Amino acid sequence: MSCCNHSHGVASGCCGTAENDSEITPEQWAEVHAIIARHKETPGALITVLREAQGVVGYFPIELLDCIAEGMNIPASDVFGVVSFYSLFSLNPKGRHTIKVCTGTACYVKGIREVINRIASEYGIREGETTEDRRFDLEGVRCLGACGLAPVMVVGEDTHGAVSADRVLELLKKYT
Ligand code: FES
Repeated sequence: MSCCNHSHGVASGCCGTAENDSEITPEQWAEVHAIIARHKETPGALITVLREAQGVVGYFPIELLDCIAEGMNIPASDVFGVVSFYSLFSLNPKGRHTIKVCTGTACYVKGIREVINRIASEYGIREGETTEDRRFDLEGVRCLGACGLAPVMVVGEDTHGAVSADRVLELLKKYT
């Protein structure tokens, strides 16, 4: 089966054995095909294609990797290797909001561990995981450079200082 070398109507299927079960919408497929078409003749454009495709889909389900490999005429194993090598790329679906908890020294001393534990037990995730409903990702990061506000947590674009285990769940309520 060949596809990915042309743009097609949003309703048509290709690029995967189970596109109907795919989490990628027809509109996203169309955008991915357009990205590939724009770059397929450019040597060394794989990273660009991957960045743009992740911007559309959010992560790399296997059928997306296959589609990009086919479209760019690069072995699927090479594409997989690149995606798994760079931390910029994700093979797993991401949540709508990323919670970055600072695990630097100042935040640690001021009790970030309790904050993390509270989030973990409320939402059933550990650091590096995503909630089942894709609402949150939880990431532990090194010093966020705002130690005066310790303990610090960043949710999406918002920085929250002096967070506490008692307050954190209330803070997270507005991120739906
Ligand atoms: S240690 Fe957390 S912001 Fe610096």
